[in-house]
Amino acid sequence: MFYDDYIKENSEWINEVFAKLDKKLSRTAVKSRYKLPYTTYDGVHDNAKYVHGWTNGFWGGLMWLMYNATKNEDYKLTALESEKMMDKAFAEIDNFYHDVGFMWHILAGANYRLTGDMAARNKDLICAMTLMSRYNVGGDFIRAWNGKEQTTWTIIDCMMNIPLLYWASEQIGDDRFKKIALRFADMAMRDHVRPDGSVNHIVVHDENEPGHVIETLGGQGYEVGSCWSRGDAWALYGFILSYIHTKEEKYLDTAKLVAQYFIANVVATDWLPLIDFRAPEEPVYYDSTAGAIAACGLIEIAKNVPEHEKKMYITSAVKLLKAMEKAWCNWEENEDSILQMGSEQYKSGRHKPIIYGDYFFTEAILKLKGFDFLPW
Ligand code: GLY
Repeated sequence: MFYDDYIKENSEWINEVFAKLDKKLSRTAVKSRYKLPYTTYDGVHDNAKYVHGWTNGFWGGLMWLMYNATKNEDYKLTALESEKMMDKAFAEIDNFYHDVGFMWHILAGANYRLTGDMAARNKDLICAMTLMSRYNVGGDFIRAWNGKEQTTWTIIDCMMNIPLLYWASEQIGDDRFKKIALRFADMAMRDHVRPDGSVNHIVVHDENEPGHVIETLGGQGYEVGSCWSRGDAWALYGFILSYIHTKEEKYLDTAKLVAQYFIANVVATDWLPLIDFRAPEEPVYYDSTAGAIAACGLIEIAKNVPEHEKKMYITSAVKLLKAMEKAWCNWEENEDSILQMGSEQYKSGRHKPIIYGDYFFTEAILKLKGFDFLPW
């Protein structure tokens, strides 16, 4: 079996990276226990001031990933502290938005799935309800942000939030949540994913005519019509997750299409992803987070395609991870971040460690290691 043989061939590297992750993260778990980190300054984790920030679930989520892999209580304690800090957000529920999956499904949701904590389950269910309530019936989409000008905007990133709805349907035994997730996935397939596997980051809809795209926006990428690589990675991982939760072939096909576009582009830059696959050659701007997210999706695709299709996806995932580990991982134990060279968007916030880079890099390594806890 190619997949298993290939993992075996690479097991020395996988084990080595896992050991380095555990060594560094077990220390940082204690050091940053009372923080919601986003990036580092002089090697030290910062602490989020705004509890509704979409990235605030990743530190605790990372702790759950490592707890599941090692059963080291320090990881669990830090994850629980993270959740406690995030609880403050429930006092301002009208500030919730589409990213509740990023924020709670991998945090409180993971807590429930790993420990059975019912209070954590309730929080995750409330998040699913708020996500479902963002469905626009007239236009047939789930709106993204809360801005007054953004009432009819969708973003491809939200493919990562809809697994929360699949989960809620199963929990409650009511398929309304799942049906809305499917509406979103079908819309994203039609309006965000282009025929060549590149994606529109933002789509502006007509709320009186489902399927009528008013315009697309470049969002965090270079420009309208370009392809922001993290957006492509959200689609890649998001569609394979929708396939895993629904077994609808069209989502697997879409994940493969996007993956093939992503792979073709990173081959051209020695497996180190640029921020945007359709930006000018100069200046050269990278985004490591796109690579880490894509690697997770590629591994899941490899697990879900027939034997003779697996090779391209699993070898690409490992090549991406190896290239990034060599070029961009910081294993210095006194510095808090691991994966460097993340970028918020094309126009600002480039080339810095970002917490979800560490999260997805670790999730990918744990998948290879066989510690399979699919938190999405
Ligand atoms: N979800 C926003 C981003 O990927 O930056």
